[in-house]
Amino acid sequence: MCGIAGCIGSPDAGKILIDALKRLEYRGYDSAGITLGGKKLHTVKTAGKVAALEAKLLSSGYKGTRGIAHTRWATHGIPSEANAHPHLTEDGTISVVHNGIIENHQQLRAELEKKGHVFRSETDSEVIPHLLEESGESDPLAAALYAFGRLKGSFASAVLFEKYPDQMICACHGSPLVLGLGDGMNLAASDMLALAPYVSRIVVLHDGEAARITANSAELFTISGAKSIQLREEPVPGEARNADKNGYEHFMLKEIMEQPEALEHAFAGRMNGDRGVPTFPEFGLSPRETARISRIVTAACGSSMHAGLTGQYYFEDIAGIAASVEQAAEFRYRNPILEPDTLVLAVSQSGETADTIAAVREAVAKGAYTVGVCNVPDSTIARESDCRIYLHAGPEQSVASTKAFTSQVTTLLLFSLFLGRNRRLSRDDGLALMREAERIPDLVREVLKHADEIRDLARKYAWAEDLFYIGRGCLYPAALEGALKLKEISYVHAEGCHSAELKHGPIALLDEKVPVIALANRIPGQEKMLGNIRECLARNAPVIAVVSGNDTCLDSFGVDLIRVPESSRFTAPVSTVVALQLFAYYFACERGCAIDQPRNLAKSVTVE
Ligand code: G6P
Repeated sequence: MCGIAGCIGSPDAGKILIDALKRLEYRGYDSAGITLGGKKLHTVKTAGKVAALEAKLLSSGYKGTRGIAHTRWATHGIPSEANAHPHLTEDGTISVVHNGIIENHQQLRAELEKKGHVFRSETDSEVIPHLLEESGESDPLAAALYAFGRLKGSFASAVLFEKYPDQMICACHGSPLVLGLGDGMNLAASDMLALAPYVSRIVVLHDGEAARITANSAELFTISGAKSIQLREEPVPGEARNADKNGYEHFMLKEIMEQPEALEHAFAGRMNGDRGVPTFPEFGLSPRETARISRIVTAACGSSMHAGLTGQYYFEDIAGIAASVEQAAEFRYRNPILEPDTLVLAVSQSGETADTIAAVREAVAKGAYTVGVCNVPDSTIARESDCRIYLHAGPEQSVASTKAFTSQVTTLLLFSLFLGRNRRLSRDDGLALMREAERIPDLVREVLKHADEIRDLARKYAWAEDLFYIGRGCLYPAALEGALKLKEISYVHAEGCHSAELKHGPIALLDEKVPVIALANRIPGQEKMLGNIRECLARNAPVIAVVSGNDTCLDSFGVDLIRVPESSRFTAPVSTVVALQLFAYYFACERGCAIDQPRNLAKSVTVE
């Protein structure tokens, strides 16, 4: 939920760490802090964003060759200077940044307070510096292994000791941490995006590992047992270097606009042969085992859950497999029934969402075969699932998901085709569906060409304080996603609703001040949607309808139109959601909202 960064061996560690924090700000941005070390440790913290920290650091004049830094999304205690990280021992000689949740912090705090330690914040994280002090160890690594060994829950952490200026200690369990190895300077951060400009190689830490880093070396150890582990160095992936806005005003717009290419990557290597079967070599089940799958359960949160809901239609219609979707937290706590032939999909852009991780663990414990559908390689969900299917959409930095969502839907469509061909779907039907799916990047290109018209419409309706999004069939999840996009970035109340459900309550809220966005594409059920639109108009609600191509079905209704290309019911969710992403983006811009960092949200929710 927060972003951490560490640096050792730079003449200006402060500059590098501020830049790293800016790249990590999507993870949280309500307060920030930094400790820099020369001979002494100096700490600067502030409520607010990294830009405020940068200004405060500049005016402090502090410089250092090593440092640790943090950008926060508050969980324990309000966003304030006192609760901002780094947290220090009372004498200020040990400094710690932490991302994650320490579940036994109350018990540890009580124990430490009894021993005379004085706490200055309300955070769970502050137990770490006190535990380090309490360890009684003279070696920093040994002290860290003691302290981290006492924690229950999740953590990614970096520690500086005033007494040991040549080293920094890092550790993680259940929260991501990557080391970056450079030339005479080494770094650590929650995401390789933060390190990429400065290093040539990275090491992704696994759960339960700690690292001792100096300017010229890095060593890995197990937290329990202090066993030395070989460094798993790899080059920085090219995509991590391409993490700038590329001239766009916001990451969200950049990510919307790069969807055609991101979607082409979802197809890469999957469309070989003329048998109408996409290739999924990473799927570990044999054809016989695949044919026996009797049910697919998808666990996910947020936009990923909406992608899963779209996949539900694909699995049932195309693969002929019963499918359901669970909010990942419900999946975990509802004690789900999983038969030996149930396949569990965990859909997650980040691969770090706490509830989805917990769902994977629950499914693994119950013996189900689990598939992590993730964008971030080597993420926790990818690692812990039996098999991983990557989206290859490239880094997504805007908090509101766009290209990851459309890549998830596309990948689930291809996966359902793969499963379907393993069962009853004929070669001809498989090939026809493959040809249809392959149109997706071009369908999206076509929608993007009309961005200006969608912008004008969004501006026209930017006065609205309540909106409904209605859809049916494969477009029902698209309505949910469209509404989510709008509320995430514009703070306006938007509700996605099945168009048939409207009459069962929500219609009571309609009047001339509540616009309805109706997904009236030419797909099965369109006739019924036209009836639902009439019901809205009869209550004086302004209607904006999404229609296919030059469809004239709404010409006599006098409603505003967003035209998306003619397409099948299976591909329409992708092109339609792209139009809704643009609508939400321009609507929020018109209202002057902070697009990439909406209030109260964070990109990766690592708490339950
Ligand atoms: C947060 C983000 C959403 C995202 C959801 C699930 O709420 O703001 O954009 O859809 O988490 O994240 P995941 O990484 O699991 O897809």
